[in-house]
Amino acid sequence: MYIISSAADIKQKAEQIRRSGKTIGLVPTMGALHEGHLHLLRTAAQENDIAVCSIFVNPTQFNNADDFDLYPRVIEVDAALLTENKCEVLFAPAVSEMYPEALQLKFDFGPLETVMEGRFRPGHFTGVAAVVSKLFHLVKPHKAYFGQKDLQQYAIIRRLVTDLSFDLELVCHPIVREPDGLAMSSRNRRLSGPERQVATHLYKALQLARDLMANKPVPEIRTAVTDYLKQYESIKLEYFEIADAHTLQPLTSVAPKTTVALCLAAFVGEVRLIDNLVVS
Ligand code: PAJ
Repeated sequence: MYIISSAADIKQKAEQIRRSGKTIGLVPTMGALHEGHLHLLRTAAQENDIAVCSIFVNPTQFNNADDFDLYPRVIEVDAALLTENKCEVLFAPAVSEMYPEALQLKFDFGPLETVMEGRFRPGHFTGVAAVVSKLFHLVKPHKAYFGQKDLQQYAIIRRLVTDLSFDLELVCHPIVREPDGLAMSSRNRRLSGPERQVATHLYKALQLARDLMANKPVPEIRTAVTDYLKQYESIKLEYFEIADAHTLQPLTSVAPKTTVALCLAAFVGEVRLIDNLVVS
């Protein structure tokens, strides 16, 4: 596996791969890789000649300095996992390489970013859109892989690709879960033993909401989920939304045949986790 840290070098490598007629599949990550990331990577390796993974803890998308500082950084372990999973190029730049100058550009995705993650993490999606745009320019992928785990992020990136005519195909990979249902996340490794146990109730709350959708109105489902999670002292629910899966706008009632996204964010102890369930 090639390990590249300079922007100029990855550009050159990407151009060389493209000139040789090969296709590039990019999996952008912030590292601390888990099976969720590796699923994306294996799919990228299957569907393209060359799988490229980027690892970059992107400062412009963190609106909480502690979260940025505490974000796990385990590049040697990650590099070994990538080699075992058919990654041919790892792009792991320093902050100065991605941002030689402070980012000035601001993105405005309209209604898409005034709800859920956008509402609770102001500026987050500007940081995501900026770094993903830079990665697309540098790595020049034919296909780029993202997870449904970050459903709103995927919607934002879809918008970015459409509005800026990026010449690539986006792939959305289903959520990979632990055997007990907890959505895999790099942040899970910051949970204590008891917090890790309690965290399984986030997915259980989403399953409860899904089951209630058959015969309960939206306000009752919201109350049921809130009450369910209130039982656990270490869980602080930030939001639970019943949204249209395409627009991500909150629904007050569900019309027949609507695809619905049940989305939540909660602190388990000090760790902020998100999860969702899409119901057709
Ligand atoms: P990160 O949280 O490292 O996630 C990288 C990719 O892996 C994202 O597309 C995310 O949705 C996907 N992913 C994470 N956990 C997953 C799971 N359990 N199942 C399926 N896919 C999962 O998301 C980011 O990094 C950053 O915002 C990034 C896009 C790299 C921009 O900085």
